Amino acid sequence: MKEILEVITEKMTAAFKEAGYDEKYARVVLSNRPDLCEYQCNGAMAAAKEYHKAPFMIADEVVEKLGNETMFSMVESVKPGFININISDEYITDYVNAMNEDAHLGVDTIEKPKTIMIDYGGPNVAKPLHVGHLRSAIIGESIKRIGKFMGNEMIGDVHLGDWGLQMGLIITELRERKPDLPYFDEAFDGEYPTEPPFTISELEEIYPTASGKSKEDEAYKEMAMQATFELQKGRRGYRALLQHILDVSVTDLKKNYEKLNVSFELWKGESDADPYIPDMVDQMKKDGFAYESEGALVVDVKEDTDTKEIPPCMILKSDGAALYNTTDLATLIWREKDYHPDEVIYVVDKRQELHFIQVFRCAKKTGIVSDATDLKFIGFGTMNGKDGKPFKTRDGGVMRLEMLLKDVNDKMYDKIVANDTMSEEEAKKTAAIVALSAVKYGDLSNQASKDYIFDIDRFTSFEGNTGPYILYTIVRIKSILNKYKEAGKDAGDIKIPVAKTESEKKLYLELSKFNAAMKVAYEESAPHKLCAYIYDLSNALNHFYHETKILAQEDETVTAGYIRLLELTKKVLEQSIDLLGFSAPEKM
Ligand code: ARG
Repeated sequence: MKEILEVITEKMTAAFKEAGYDEKYARVVLSNRPDLCEYQCNGAMAAAKEYHKAPFMIADEVVEKLGNETMFSMVESVKPGFININISDEYITDYVNAMNEDAHLGVDTIEKPKTIMIDYGGPNVAKPLHVGHLRSAIIGESIKRIGKFMGNEMIGDVHLGDWGLQMGLIITELRERKPDLPYFDEAFDGEYPTEPPFTISELEEIYPTASGKSKEDEAYKEMAMQATFELQKGRRGYRALLQHILDVSVTDLKKNYEKLNVSFELWKGESDADPYIPDMVDQMKKDGFAYESEGALVVDVKEDTDTKEIPPCMILKSDGAALYNTTDLATLIWREKDYHPDEVIYVVDKRQELHFIQVFRCAKKTGIVSDATDLKFIGFGTMNGKDGKPFKTRDGGVMRLEMLLKDVNDKMYDKIVANDTMSEEEAKKTAAIVALSAVKYGDLSNQASKDYIFDIDRFTSFEGNTGPYILYTIVRIKSILNKYKEAGKDAGDIKIPVAKTESEKKLYLELSKFNAAMKVAYEESAPHKLCAYIYDLSNALNHFYHETKILAQEDETVTAGYIRLLELTKKVLEQSIDLLGFSAPEKM
Protein backbone atom coordinates (compact mmCIF):
# COMPACT_ATOMS: atom_id res chain seq x y z
CA MET A 1 0.00 0.00 0.00
CA LYS A 2 1.16 3.47 -0.77
CA GLU A 3 2.24 5.42 2.29
CA ILE A 4 -0.23 8.08 3.32
CA LEU A 5 2.47 10.72 3.15
CA GLU A 6 3.14 9.71 -0.41
CA VAL A 7 -0.52 10.00 -1.35
CA ILE A 8 -0.78 13.44 0.22
CA THR A 9 2.44 14.54 -1.46
CA GLU A 10 1.02 13.50 -4.83
CA LYS A 11 -2.06 15.62 -4.27
CA MET A 12 0.10 18.49 -3.11
CA THR A 13 2.35 18.13 -6.14
CA ALA A 14 -0.62 18.41 -8.48
CA ALA A 15 -1.84 21.48 -6.60
CA PHE A 16 1.53 23.24 -6.73
CA LYS A 17 1.80 22.57 -10.45
CA GLU A 18 -1.72 23.70 -11.12
CA ALA A 19 -1.06 26.91 -9.25
CA GLY A 20 2.01 27.44 -11.37
CA TYR A 21 4.76 26.51 -8.92
CA ASP A 22 7.55 23.99 -9.08
CA GLU A 23 6.60 20.61 -7.68
CA LYS A 24 9.82 20.43 -5.71
CA TYR A 25 8.12 22.59 -3.10
CA ALA A 26 5.28 20.14 -2.56
CA ARG A 27 6.93 17.95 0.06
CA VAL A 28 4.62 16.95 2.89
CA VAL A 29 5.81 15.89 6.32
CA LEU A 30 4.27 14.72 9.57
CA SER A 31 3.19 17.71 11.57
CA ASN A 32 5.54 18.87 14.27
CA ARG A 33 2.54 20.51 15.93
CA PRO A 34 0.08 17.63 16.32
CA ASP A 35 -2.13 19.96 18.33
CA LEU A 36 -2.70 22.03 15.17
CA CYS A 37 -2.76 19.49 12.38
CA GLU A 38 -1.69 16.01 11.31
CA TYR A 39 0.45 16.76 8.27
CA GLN A 40 2.03 19.89 6.93
CA CYS A 41 3.72 21.33 3.86
CA ASN A 42 6.22 24.12 4.32
CA GLY A 43 7.11 24.47 0.65
CA ALA A 44 5.48 27.86 0.16
CA MET A 45 8.09 29.39 2.45
CA ALA A 46 10.93 28.22 0.21
CA ALA A 47 9.02 28.94 -3.00
CA ALA A 48 8.56 32.55 -1.89
CA LYS A 49 12.22 33.26 -2.59
CA GLU A 50 12.12 31.90 -6.10
CA TYR A 51 8.84 33.54 -7.05
CA HIS A 52 9.36 36.80 -5.16
CA LYS A 53 5.97 36.57 -3.54
CA ALA A 54 4.76 36.49 0.03
CA PRO A 55 4.69 32.86 1.20
CA PHE A 56 1.10 33.06 2.44
CA MET A 57 -0.06 34.11 -1.02
CA ILE A 58 1.48 31.01 -2.53
CA ALA A 59 0.05 28.87 0.25
CA ASP A 60 -3.40 30.38 -0.33
CA GLU A 61 -3.30 29.63 -4.04
CA VAL A 62 -2.22 26.04 -3.47
CA VAL A 63 -4.87 25.48 -0.80
CA GLU A 64 -7.52 26.74 -3.16
CA LYS A 65 -6.61 24.05 -5.68
CA LEU A 66 -7.09 21.43 -2.97
CA GLY A 67 -10.51 22.72 -1.97
CA ASN A 68 -12.49 19.78 -3.29
CA GLU A 69 -10.14 17.06 -2.15
CA THR A 70 -12.18 14.48 -0.20
CA MET A 71 -9.08 12.90 1.27
CA PHE A 72 -8.71 15.86 3.61
CA SER A 73 -10.99 17.12 6.34
CA MET A 74 -8.97 20.29 6.53
CA VAL A 75 -6.42 22.07 4.36
CA GLU A 76 -5.61 25.57 5.43
CA SER A 77 -2.93 28.09 4.88
CA VAL A 78 -1.58 29.63 8.02
CA LYS A 79 0.60 32.70 8.17
CA PRO A 80 3.38 33.19 7.41
CA GLY A 81 2.87 30.45 4.81
CA PHE A 82 2.38 26.98 6.21
CA ILE A 83 -0.13 24.57 4.78
CA ASN A 84 -1.76 22.52 7.52
CA ILE A 85 -3.56 19.33 6.68
CA ASN A 86 -5.87 16.90 8.42
CA ILE A 87 -6.87 13.70 6.79
CA SER A 88 -10.56 12.83 6.62
CA ASP A 89 -12.00 10.27 9.00
CA GLU A 90 -13.34 8.24 6.09
CA TYR A 91 -10.02 8.12 4.32
CA ILE A 92 -8.02 7.03 7.34
CA THR A 93 -10.67 4.44 8.22
CA ASP A 94 -10.55 2.94 4.74
CA TYR A 95 -6.81 2.89 5.00
CA VAL A 96 -6.69 0.92 8.25
CA ASN A 97 -9.37 -1.44 6.97
CA ALA A 98 -7.23 -2.13 3.91
CA MET A 99 -4.25 -2.79 6.19
CA ASN A 100 -6.35 -5.20 8.21
CA GLU A 101 -7.16 -7.18 5.09
CA ASP A 102 -3.61 -7.24 3.80
CA ALA A 103 -1.49 -10.20 4.86
CA HIS A 104 1.56 -7.94 4.97
CA LEU A 105 -0.21 -5.21 6.93
CA GLY A 106 0.12 -2.61 4.19
CA VAL A 107 3.89 -2.91 3.83
CA ASP A 108 5.08 -3.42 0.24
CA THR A 109 8.13 -5.59 -0.19
CA ILE A 110 11.00 -4.03 -2.10
CA GLU A 111 10.99 -4.08 -5.87
CA LYS A 112 14.30 -5.83 -6.42
CA PRO A 113 14.95 -8.27 -3.59
CA LYS A 114 18.59 -8.82 -2.76
CA THR A 115 20.68 -11.62 -1.34
CA ILE A 116 22.16 -10.20 1.82
CA MET A 117 24.66 -11.94 4.06
CA ILE A 118 24.80 -10.67 7.58
CA ASP A 119 27.78 -11.37 9.78
CA TYR A 120 26.78 -11.02 13.41
CA GLY A 121 27.18 -12.71 16.78
CA GLY A 122 30.91 -13.22 16.33
CA PRO A 123 31.51 -15.23 19.50
CA ASN A 124 34.95 -16.64 20.15
CA VAL A 125 34.97 -20.37 20.74
CA ALA A 126 35.98 -21.68 24.13
CA LYS A 127 35.40 -18.27 25.63
CA PRO A 128 32.05 -17.75 27.33
CA LEU A 129 29.68 -15.29 25.69
CA HIS A 130 29.95 -11.93 27.37
CA VAL A 131 27.88 -8.80 27.13
CA GLY A 132 30.03 -7.46 24.31
CA HIS A 133 28.56 -10.15 22.08
CA LEU A 134 25.06 -9.38 23.23
CA ARG A 135 24.65 -6.26 21.14
CA SER A 136 25.86 -7.89 17.95
CA ALA A 137 23.42 -10.76 18.40
CA ILE A 138 20.46 -8.54 19.27
CA ILE A 139 20.99 -5.91 16.59
CA GLY A 140 22.05 -8.35 13.89
CA GLU A 141 19.06 -10.61 14.46
CA SER A 142 16.67 -7.68 14.17
CA ILE A 143 18.28 -6.28 11.02
CA LYS A 144 18.11 -9.75 9.53
CA ARG A 145 14.41 -10.16 10.32
CA ILE A 146 13.56 -6.69 9.02
CA GLY A 147 15.45 -7.38 5.79
CA LYS A 148 13.59 -10.62 5.31
CA PHE A 149 10.21 -9.04 5.98
CA MET A 150 10.99 -6.52 3.23
CA GLY A 151 11.47 -9.39 0.81
CA ASN A 152 15.21 -10.04 0.74
CA GLU A 153 16.98 -13.31 1.15
CA MET A 154 18.90 -12.89 4.39
CA ILE A 155 21.71 -15.28 5.30
CA GLY A 156 23.04 -14.90 8.82
CA ASP A 157 26.52 -16.18 9.56
CA VAL A 158 27.78 -16.38 13.14
CA HIS A 159 31.44 -16.10 12.05
CA LEU A 160 33.05 -17.82 15.02
CA GLY A 161 36.39 -16.60 16.25
CA ASP A 162 38.21 -19.91 15.98
CA TRP A 163 41.52 -19.22 14.27
CA GLY A 164 43.57 -17.03 16.54
CA LEU A 165 45.94 -17.35 19.44
CA GLN A 166 43.17 -18.54 21.74
CA MET A 167 43.22 -21.88 19.90
CA GLY A 168 46.97 -22.22 20.43
CA LEU A 169 46.53 -21.37 24.10
CA ILE A 170 43.94 -24.07 24.60
CA ILE A 171 46.04 -26.64 22.79
CA THR A 172 49.10 -25.71 24.85
CA GLU A 173 47.28 -25.92 28.16
CA LEU A 174 45.69 -29.23 27.19
CA ARG A 175 49.10 -30.57 26.33
CA GLU A 176 50.45 -29.57 29.74
CA ARG A 177 47.61 -31.42 31.42
CA LYS A 178 47.26 -34.46 29.24
CA PRO A 179 50.50 -34.91 27.28
CA ASP A 180 49.70 -38.54 26.52
CA LEU A 181 46.70 -37.81 24.34
CA PRO A 182 47.28 -39.01 20.77
CA TYR A 183 46.70 -35.48 19.42
CA PHE A 184 50.15 -34.50 20.62
CA ASP A 185 51.95 -37.52 19.24
CA GLU A 186 53.25 -36.53 15.83
CA ALA A 187 53.96 -40.13 14.92
CA PHE A 188 50.34 -41.13 15.56
CA ASP A 189 48.58 -41.94 12.30
CA GLY A 190 45.53 -43.83 13.53
CA GLU A 191 42.01 -42.51 14.01
CA TYR A 192 41.54 -39.98 16.79
CA PRO A 193 38.85 -40.61 19.43
CA THR A 194 35.40 -39.33 18.57
CA GLU A 195 34.75 -38.24 22.16
CA PRO A 196 36.22 -34.82 22.98
CA PRO A 197 38.89 -34.88 25.73
CA PHE A 198 37.07 -32.15 27.73
CA THR A 199 33.62 -30.84 28.64
CA ILE A 200 32.39 -27.31 28.04
CA SER A 201 33.04 -26.29 31.64
CA GLU A 202 36.60 -27.62 31.45
CA LEU A 203 37.08 -25.79 28.18
CA GLU A 204 35.81 -22.57 29.67
CA GLU A 205 38.23 -22.95 32.54
CA ILE A 206 41.18 -23.97 30.34
CA TYR A 207 41.13 -20.83 28.25
CA PRO A 208 41.38 -18.22 31.01
CA THR A 209 44.01 -20.33 32.80
CA ALA A 210 46.10 -20.53 29.66
CA SER A 211 45.62 -16.89 28.86
CA GLY A 212 46.72 -15.94 32.40
CA LYS A 213 49.82 -18.14 32.18
CA SER A 214 50.82 -16.72 28.82
CA LYS A 215 50.86 -13.23 30.24
CA GLU A 216 53.32 -14.22 32.93
CA ASP A 217 55.39 -16.87 31.24
CA GLU A 218 57.17 -15.88 28.02
CA ALA A 219 58.10 -19.47 27.15
CA TYR A 220 54.50 -20.57 27.57
CA LYS A 221 53.34 -17.81 25.27
CA GLU A 222 55.97 -18.86 22.76
CA MET A 223 54.58 -22.40 22.86
CA ALA A 224 51.04 -21.13 22.33
CA MET A 225 52.12 -19.11 19.33
CA GLN A 226 53.94 -22.09 17.92
CA ALA A 227 50.84 -24.26 18.45
CA THR A 228 48.69 -21.64 16.69
CA PHE A 229 51.13 -21.60 13.82
CA GLU A 230 51.19 -25.40 13.53
CA LEU A 231 47.41 -25.57 13.73
CA GLN A 232 47.16 -23.07 10.89
CA LYS A 233 49.77 -24.99 8.92
CA GLY A 234 47.54 -28.04 9.22
CA ARG A 235 49.07 -30.29 11.88
CA ARG A 236 46.73 -33.26 11.97
CA GLY A 237 46.36 -33.73 15.72
CA TYR A 238 45.73 -30.06 16.26
CA ARG A 239 43.10 -29.94 13.55
CA ALA A 240 41.38 -32.85 15.27
CA LEU A 241 41.49 -30.94 18.56
CA LEU A 242 40.09 -27.85 16.84
CA GLN A 243 37.18 -29.94 15.66
CA HIS A 244 36.52 -31.13 19.23
CA ILE A 245 36.74 -27.58 20.55
CA LEU A 246 34.32 -26.42 17.87
CA ASP A 247 31.84 -29.23 18.48
CA VAL A 248 31.75 -28.65 22.21
CA SER A 249 31.59 -24.86 21.91
CA VAL A 250 29.01 -24.73 19.19
CA THR A 251 26.62 -26.99 21.09
CA ASP A 252 26.90 -24.67 24.05
CA LEU A 253 26.63 -21.50 21.97
CA LYS A 254 23.51 -22.73 20.22
CA LYS A 255 21.85 -23.23 23.58
CA ASN A 256 22.71 -19.71 24.63
CA TYR A 257 21.62 -18.08 21.40
CA GLU A 258 18.38 -19.99 21.54
CA LYS A 259 17.63 -18.36 24.88
CA LEU A 260 18.15 -15.03 23.15
CA ASN A 261 15.80 -15.99 20.34
CA VAL A 262 18.70 -15.63 17.93
CA SER A 263 19.53 -18.16 15.23
CA PHE A 264 21.97 -18.37 12.37
CA GLU A 265 21.66 -19.86 8.91
CA LEU A 266 25.39 -20.56 8.83
CA TRP A 267 27.74 -21.64 11.58
CA LYS A 268 30.96 -20.84 9.79
CA GLY A 269 34.08 -19.60 11.45
CA GLU A 270 37.35 -17.90 10.70
CA SER A 271 38.89 -21.34 10.24
CA ASP A 272 36.61 -21.99 7.25
CA ALA A 273 38.50 -19.26 5.43
CA ASP A 274 41.79 -21.09 5.80
CA PRO A 275 41.64 -23.18 2.59
CA TYR A 276 41.26 -20.00 0.56
CA ILE A 277 44.22 -18.15 2.03
CA PRO A 278 47.17 -19.54 -0.01
CA ASP A 279 45.61 -18.85 -3.43
CA MET A 280 44.34 -15.49 -2.27
CA VAL A 281 47.82 -14.45 -1.17
CA ASP A 282 49.40 -15.70 -4.40
CA GLN A 283 46.92 -13.80 -6.48
CA MET A 284 47.46 -10.58 -4.53
CA LYS A 285 51.19 -10.92 -5.10
CA LYS A 286 50.82 -11.80 -8.75
CA ASP A 287 48.54 -8.83 -9.40
CA GLY A 288 51.05 -6.57 -7.72
CA PHE A 289 48.77 -5.54 -4.87
CA ALA A 290 50.63 -7.24 -2.03
CA TYR A 291 54.21 -6.34 -1.21
CA GLU A 292 56.64 -6.97 1.61
CA SER A 293 57.08 -4.37 4.26
CA GLU A 294 59.33 -5.01 7.25
CA GLY A 295 58.96 -8.72 6.64
CA ALA A 296 55.15 -8.67 6.60
CA LEU A 297 52.97 -8.85 3.52
CA VAL A 298 50.73 -5.80 3.08
CA VAL A 299 48.33 -4.14 0.65
CA ASP A 300 48.04 -0.34 0.54
CA VAL A 301 44.51 0.85 1.08
CA LYS A 302 44.85 4.58 1.65
CA GLU A 303 42.94 6.93 -0.61
CA ASP A 304 43.57 10.54 -1.63
CA THR A 305 40.44 11.77 0.04
CA ASP A 306 41.30 10.29 3.45
CA THR A 307 41.29 12.82 6.24
CA LYS A 308 42.96 10.46 8.67
CA GLU A 309 45.72 7.99 8.12
CA ILE A 310 44.58 4.56 6.96
CA PRO A 311 47.52 2.17 7.40
CA PRO A 312 48.17 -0.64 4.90
CA CYS A 313 46.13 -3.82 5.33
CA MET A 314 48.43 -6.53 6.69
CA ILE A 315 47.82 -9.87 5.00
CA LEU A 316 50.50 -12.07 6.55
CA LYS A 317 52.74 -11.54 9.55
CA SER A 318 56.48 -11.88 9.10
CA ASP A 319 56.29 -15.50 10.30
CA GLY A 320 53.68 -16.17 7.61
CA ALA A 321 50.80 -16.42 10.09
CA ALA A 322 47.32 -15.32 9.08
CA LEU A 323 45.67 -12.40 10.86
CA TYR A 324 42.16 -11.15 11.50
CA ASN A 325 42.36 -9.27 8.18
CA THR A 326 43.39 -12.41 6.36
CA THR A 327 40.50 -14.53 7.55
CA ASP A 328 38.00 -11.74 6.90
CA LEU A 329 39.27 -11.33 3.33
CA ALA A 330 39.36 -15.04 2.61
CA THR A 331 35.88 -15.38 4.14
CA LEU A 332 34.63 -12.98 1.48
CA ILE A 333 35.99 -15.37 -1.13
CA TRP A 334 33.75 -18.26 -0.11
CA ARG A 335 30.84 -15.95 0.55
CA GLU A 336 31.16 -14.66 -3.00
CA LYS A 337 31.70 -18.13 -4.50
CA ASP A 338 28.89 -19.92 -2.66
CA TYR A 339 26.26 -17.20 -2.26
CA HIS A 340 26.96 -14.27 -4.64
CA PRO A 341 25.58 -11.75 -2.14
CA ASP A 342 24.50 -8.30 -3.32
CA GLU A 343 25.39 -7.03 0.10
CA VAL A 344 27.39 -8.16 3.12
CA ILE A 345 26.56 -6.50 6.43
CA TYR A 346 28.85 -6.72 9.47
CA VAL A 347 27.37 -5.97 12.87
CA VAL A 348 30.42 -5.48 15.05
CA ASP A 349 31.68 -3.22 17.84
CA LYS A 350 32.38 0.20 16.36
CA ARG A 351 35.90 0.10 17.78
CA GLN A 352 36.66 -2.30 14.92
CA GLU A 353 35.79 0.27 12.28
CA LEU A 354 39.35 0.77 11.02
CA HIS A 355 39.74 -2.97 10.54
CA PHE A 356 36.66 -3.05 8.32
CA ILE A 357 37.69 0.02 6.34
CA GLN A 358 40.94 -1.77 5.55
CA VAL A 359 39.30 -5.09 4.74
CA PHE A 360 36.57 -3.55 2.55
CA ARG A 361 39.03 -1.45 0.58
CA CYS A 362 41.42 -4.32 0.15
CA ALA A 363 38.62 -6.66 -0.98
CA LYS A 364 37.46 -4.18 -3.62
CA LYS A 365 40.93 -3.21 -4.76
CA THR A 366 42.07 -6.79 -5.22
CA GLY A 367 38.82 -7.84 -6.87
CA ILE A 368 37.75 -10.32 -4.19
CA VAL A 369 34.36 -8.66 -4.43
CA SER A 370 33.08 -6.61 -7.33
CA ASP A 371 32.30 -2.93 -7.15
CA ALA A 372 28.63 -3.79 -7.22
CA THR A 373 28.79 -5.70 -3.94
CA ASP A 374 27.86 -3.51 -1.04
CA LEU A 375 30.03 -4.04 2.03
CA LYS A 376 28.42 -2.41 5.01
CA PHE A 377 29.77 -1.96 8.51
CA ILE A 378 27.27 -1.36 11.26
CA GLY A 379 29.37 -0.44 14.27
CA PHE A 380 27.62 -0.45 17.60
CA GLY A 381 28.53 1.42 20.76
CA THR A 382 29.36 0.04 24.17
CA MET A 383 26.88 -1.17 26.71
CA ASN A 384 27.83 0.65 29.89
CA GLY A 385 26.90 0.25 33.52
CA LYS A 386 25.27 2.98 35.54
CA ASP A 387 28.71 4.38 36.28
CA GLY A 388 29.14 5.10 32.57
CA LYS A 389 31.91 2.51 32.23
CA PRO A 390 31.69 -0.76 30.29
CA PHE A 391 29.28 -3.12 32.03
CA LYS A 392 30.99 -5.30 34.63
CA THR A 393 30.06 -7.71 37.38
CA ARG A 394 29.80 -6.36 40.91
CA ASP A 395 33.36 -7.40 41.62
CA GLY A 396 34.64 -5.77 38.44
CA GLY A 397 34.98 -8.88 36.28
CA VAL A 398 33.70 -9.40 32.76
CA MET A 399 29.97 -9.99 32.91
CA ARG A 400 28.94 -13.26 31.35
CA LEU A 401 25.85 -13.13 29.26
CA GLU A 402 24.24 -15.97 31.18
CA MET A 403 24.63 -14.10 34.45
CA LEU A 404 23.23 -10.93 33.05
CA LEU A 405 20.18 -12.70 31.71
CA LYS A 406 19.72 -14.49 34.98
CA ASP A 407 19.71 -11.21 36.90
CA VAL A 408 17.06 -9.76 34.62
CA ASN A 409 15.02 -12.97 34.77
CA ASP A 410 15.10 -12.99 38.57
CA LYS A 411 14.02 -9.40 38.76
CA MET A 412 11.18 -10.00 36.33
CA TYR A 413 10.12 -13.12 38.18
CA ASP A 414 9.84 -11.22 41.48
CA LYS A 415 7.66 -8.60 39.84
CA ILE A 416 5.39 -11.12 38.23
CA VAL A 417 5.04 -13.22 41.37
CA ALA A 418 4.16 -10.06 43.28
CA ASN A 419 1.17 -9.62 40.97
CA ASP A 420 0.07 -13.09 42.08
CA THR A 421 -1.91 -14.01 38.99
CA MET A 422 -0.28 -17.25 37.94
CA SER A 423 1.32 -20.49 39.01
CA GLU A 424 5.01 -20.65 39.77
CA GLU A 425 5.78 -22.47 36.57
CA GLU A 426 3.80 -20.05 34.45
CA ALA A 427 5.46 -17.15 36.24
CA LYS A 428 8.88 -18.55 35.38
CA LYS A 429 8.03 -18.91 31.73
CA THR A 430 6.47 -15.48 31.60
CA ALA A 431 9.43 -13.92 33.38
CA ALA A 432 11.79 -15.31 30.76
CA ILE A 433 9.69 -13.88 27.92
CA VAL A 434 9.32 -10.46 29.51
CA ALA A 435 12.96 -10.33 30.61
CA LEU A 436 14.07 -10.90 27.03
CA SER A 437 11.93 -8.00 25.88
CA ALA A 438 13.49 -5.82 28.59
CA VAL A 439 17.02 -6.64 27.47
CA LYS A 440 16.39 -6.49 23.74
CA TYR A 441 14.19 -3.41 23.68
CA GLY A 442 16.55 -1.68 26.11
CA ASP A 443 19.27 -2.21 23.56
CA LEU A 444 17.39 -1.78 20.29
CA SER A 445 15.56 1.39 21.26
CA ASN A 446 18.92 3.21 21.16
CA GLN A 447 20.57 4.14 17.93
CA ALA A 448 23.03 1.27 17.44
CA SER A 449 26.13 3.42 17.03
CA LYS A 450 25.64 5.10 20.40
CA ASP A 451 26.81 3.83 23.77
CA TYR A 452 24.01 3.21 26.22
CA ILE A 453 23.54 2.53 29.88
CA PHE A 454 22.19 -0.82 30.87
CA ASP A 455 19.73 0.20 33.55
CA ILE A 456 18.01 -2.92 34.80
CA ASP A 457 15.45 -0.98 36.87
CA ARG A 458 14.38 1.15 33.95
CA PHE A 459 14.47 -1.64 31.36
CA THR A 460 12.26 -3.94 33.45
CA SER A 461 9.69 -1.27 34.25
CA PHE A 462 6.15 -1.82 32.96
CA GLU A 463 5.87 1.89 32.32
CA GLY A 464 7.70 4.20 29.97
CA ASN A 465 9.59 3.41 26.81
CA THR A 466 10.42 -0.21 27.64
CA GLY A 467 9.95 -3.70 26.26
CA PRO A 468 7.68 -4.75 29.14
CA TYR A 469 5.44 -1.74 28.46
CA ILE A 470 5.01 -2.83 24.85
CA LEU A 471 4.25 -6.38 25.97
CA TYR A 472 1.85 -5.07 28.58
CA THR A 473 -0.04 -3.28 25.83
CA ILE A 474 -0.26 -6.45 23.75
CA VAL A 475 -1.37 -8.48 26.77
CA ARG A 476 -4.06 -5.88 27.47
CA ILE A 477 -5.40 -6.34 23.93
CA LYS A 478 -5.23 -10.10 24.21
CA SER A 479 -7.22 -10.04 27.40
CA ILE A 480 -10.01 -7.98 25.83
CA LEU A 481 -10.10 -10.22 22.78
CA ASN A 482 -10.26 -13.28 25.04
CA LYS A 483 -13.13 -11.88 27.08
CA TYR A 484 -15.00 -11.17 23.89
CA LYS A 485 -14.42 -14.66 22.62
CA GLU A 486 -15.29 -16.26 25.95
CA ALA A 487 -18.63 -14.48 25.78
CA GLY A 488 -19.19 -16.52 22.64
CA LYS A 489 -18.89 -13.58 20.29
CA ASP A 490 -17.18 -13.15 16.99
CA ALA A 491 -16.62 -9.91 15.12
CA GLY A 492 -16.34 -11.77 11.85
CA ASP A 493 -15.25 -9.54 9.02
CA ILE A 494 -17.10 -6.46 10.14
CA LYS A 495 -15.18 -3.30 9.24
CA ILE A 496 -13.37 -0.99 11.57
CA PRO A 497 -15.85 1.88 12.03
CA VAL A 498 -15.24 5.47 10.97
CA ALA A 499 -13.24 7.21 13.67
CA LYS A 500 -15.48 9.26 15.94
CA THR A 501 -13.30 10.45 18.78
CA GLU A 502 -9.94 12.12 18.95
CA SER A 503 -8.33 9.07 20.60
CA GLU A 504 -9.72 6.74 17.94
CA LYS A 505 -8.43 8.88 15.15
CA LYS A 506 -5.03 9.15 16.78
CA LEU A 507 -4.85 5.37 16.94
CA TYR A 508 -5.83 5.05 13.28
CA LEU A 509 -3.18 7.60 12.32
CA GLU A 510 -0.49 5.70 14.21
CA LEU A 511 -1.54 2.41 12.65
CA SER A 512 -1.38 3.95 9.20
CA LYS A 513 2.29 4.87 9.71
CA PHE A 514 3.43 1.25 9.94
CA ASN A 515 4.60 0.98 6.32
CA ALA A 516 6.55 4.22 6.55
CA ALA A 517 8.18 3.11 9.82
CA MET A 518 9.18 -0.22 8.31
CA LYS A 519 10.65 1.47 5.29
CA VAL A 520 13.02 3.71 7.27
CA ALA A 521 13.91 0.96 9.72
CA TYR A 522 14.90 -1.15 6.73
CA GLU A 523 16.63 1.48 4.63
CA GLU A 524 18.64 2.84 7.51
CA SER A 525 19.24 -0.54 9.21
CA ALA A 526 17.69 1.14 12.20
CA PRO A 527 15.62 -1.05 14.53
CA HIS A 528 15.42 1.90 16.94
CA LYS A 529 13.04 3.57 14.50
CA LEU A 530 10.73 0.58 14.70
CA CYS A 531 10.95 0.78 18.52
CA ALA A 532 10.00 4.45 18.44
CA TYR A 533 7.06 3.60 16.21
CA ILE A 534 5.65 0.86 18.43
CA TYR A 535 6.08 3.05 21.48
CA ASP A 536 3.90 5.73 19.85
CA LEU A 537 1.43 3.09 18.72
CA SER A 538 1.23 1.60 22.22
CA ASN A 539 0.63 5.02 23.71
CA ALA A 540 -2.15 5.64 21.20
CA LEU A 541 -3.72 2.28 22.00
CA ASN A 542 -3.59 2.83 25.74
CA HIS A 543 -5.04 6.31 25.38
CA PHE A 544 -7.87 4.90 23.29
CA TYR A 545 -8.40 2.13 25.84
CA HIS A 546 -8.76 4.59 28.71
CA GLU A 547 -11.16 6.81 26.78
CA THR A 548 -13.38 4.16 25.32
CA LYS A 549 -15.90 1.61 26.53
CA ILE A 550 -15.03 -1.31 24.35
CA LEU A 551 -16.99 -4.33 25.53
CA ALA A 552 -19.74 -2.49 27.37
CA GLN A 553 -21.42 -1.02 24.31
CA GLU A 554 -25.15 -1.34 23.80
CA ASP A 555 -24.79 -1.65 20.08
CA GLU A 556 -22.95 -4.89 19.44
CA THR A 557 -21.72 -3.78 16.05
CA VAL A 558 -19.81 -0.94 17.70
CA THR A 559 -18.02 -3.40 19.96
CA ALA A 560 -17.36 -5.68 17.01
CA GLY A 561 -15.79 -2.77 15.11
CA TYR A 562 -13.54 -2.00 18.08
CA ILE A 563 -12.56 -5.64 18.28
CA ARG A 564 -11.42 -5.49 14.68
CA LEU A 565 -9.43 -2.35 15.49
CA LEU A 566 -7.77 -4.12 18.42
CA GLU A 567 -7.00 -7.11 16.23
CA LEU A 568 -5.20 -4.91 13.76
CA THR A 569 -3.26 -3.13 16.50
CA LYS A 570 -2.25 -6.47 17.95
CA LYS A 571 -1.09 -7.74 14.56
CA VAL A 572 1.04 -4.66 13.97
CA LEU A 573 2.57 -4.79 17.45
CA GLU A 574 3.21 -8.52 17.33
CA GLN A 575 4.72 -8.31 13.88
CA SER A 576 6.97 -5.51 15.05
CA ILE A 577 8.25 -7.24 18.17
CA ASP A 578 8.88 -10.35 16.12
CA LEU A 579 11.06 -8.20 13.88
CA LEU A 580 12.84 -6.96 16.97
CA GLY A 581 13.36 -10.54 18.07
CA PHE A 582 11.05 -11.08 21.02
CA SER A 583 7.49 -12.14 21.72
CA ALA A 584 4.61 -11.48 24.09
CA PRO A 585 3.19 -13.78 26.79
CA GLU A 586 -0.52 -14.49 27.29
CA LYS A 587 -0.64 -12.80 30.68
CA MET A 588 1.76 -10.80 32.78
N1 ARG B 1 35.08 -12.55 16.98
C1 ARG B 1 35.17 -11.12 16.83
C2 ARG B 1 35.25 -10.46 18.21
O1 ARG B 1 34.85 -11.04 19.21
C3 ARG B 1 34.02 -10.54 16.07
C4 ARG B 1 33.86 -11.03 14.67
C5 ARG B 1 33.16 -10.04 13.79
N2 ARG B 1 33.03 -10.49 12.42
C6 ARG B 1 34.02 -10.45 11.50
N3 ARG B 1 33.77 -10.90 10.30
N4 ARG B 1 35.19 -9.98 11.80
O2 ARG B 1 35.71 -9.35 18.30
